[in-house]
Amino acid sequence: MTTNGPTAPTAPAGMAAAASAHVPYAHPAMSPADRELLLTSVRQVATDPEQKFILGRRCAALERALRDRTGAGDVIACGSGTGALSLALRAARIGPGDEVIVPAFGAEPLAACVLGVGATPVFADVHPDSGLLDPADAERRVTARSRAIVPAHVFSSMADMPAVCELAARHRLEVVEDAAVAQGATLRGRPAGTWGDLGLYSFYPVKPFGMAGEGAIVLSDDTELARATRMLRNHGQDGVNRFLHHEIGLNSRFDEIHAAFQLARLPALDELLARRRAVADYYSERFAPLRDRGLAAPEPGADGRCLYVYAVYTPHRDALARHLAAHGVGSRVYHPSPLPRLAAFAPARTGDGPAAAPWPGADRAAARHLALPLHPHLSPAQTRQVADAVCGFFGLDGPDGPDGPDS
Ligand SMILES: Cc1ncc(COP(=O)(O)O)c(C=O)c1O
Repeated sequence: MTTNGPTAPTAPAGMAAAASAHVPYAHPAMSPADRELLLTSVRQVATDPEQKFILGRRCAALERALRDRTGAGDVIACGSGTGALSLALRAARIGPGDEVIVPAFGAEPLAACVLGVGATPVFADVHPDSGLLDPADAERRVTARSRAIVPAHVFSSMADMPAVCELAARHRLEVVEDAAVAQGATLRGRPAGTWGDLGLYSFYPVKPFGMAGEGAIVLSDDTELARATRMLRNHGQDGVNRFLHHEIGLNSRFDEIHAAFQLARLPALDELLARRRAVADYYSERFAPLRDRGLAAPEPGADGRCLYVYAVYTPHRDALARHLAAHGVGSRVYHPSPLPRLAAFAPARTGDGPAAAPWPGADRAAARHLALPLHPHLSPAQTRQVADAVCGFFGLDGPDGPDGPDS
């Protein structure tokens, strides 16, 4: 057990601080306070004489609140992160014949949504120790057909948005910033989701502002892109004249129960994020000396840090996962294969040329990443248990003495 160095973050009020034998990877249950808020939200909407269940005043109030919080010009609530990505691509008028540069490592919708609008995803390589889009590799894949680039924030870190925006400006590409996992993250003081021409957050339950169902928002400073997104989410209607469809859109709407719930929880979001940050900062301080021993972890500090998943990268990934399990610590591999190697995208692998170049960084990121428990309900003892187990594997400060990567 570590006797000096960083102190494990303190537990939130009312939370037991005792060590648990097993630290599960995830904590899917809602807090008792959130359960009450959810029940109150259902009752509020169910008993409201207005009886409006979708895209009503609560939804508009949530959009305003998130606009104020992020400083985005406009915020449009919609049905899911996948819906948000599709809406953003459609609003940017991406379609057949266009190429869209996406990271070769990440969530499936990054490429699926591009194919969904009839365009071609062009996979760019990523940094092997963060999974983040490599802007230099992305630039090598620009062609005369390139119309947009979709940088994604991954696990614990934001993409290099200044470099992505620069290259996009040079080649006149739209930037659709996938901040699905990055609510609460900022880079150089600017919130995730507000760097791109369009950005998005997902409210899928495990996300930092996840809720009890499906939902998301699109953010944009561009009035025309925001107007188009708002129309597209509701079958191309303008919100004034029903059944007059200006174009073919989607059903990607947001409902009032979720809006009431998210509005009620918004004041507590910073506290939840702070709790995640304390855990992540503690891990990063404990893991900093392990870089020379083969473990890449997110740097300490808030700039560009996401608080969704705490992922480390090591060539000894599978042995580390086994060691953690043996020490009662759950962990998770998210993307075991780079996107272009998934069967689903086989038809999208386009012949020769810049699109077909290899993805060595994505191959390594897929083989090396491992996510550790990071959620607001971790007790200090559990947080320490996770860090001790990781350090122990690399022969540093482990509770059971040296038990290194070769084990
Ligand atoms: C980077 C990224 N983009 C998009 C999505 C899709 O979001 P949703 O699950 O809300 O559809 C996810 C989901 O995990 C994601 O991680």
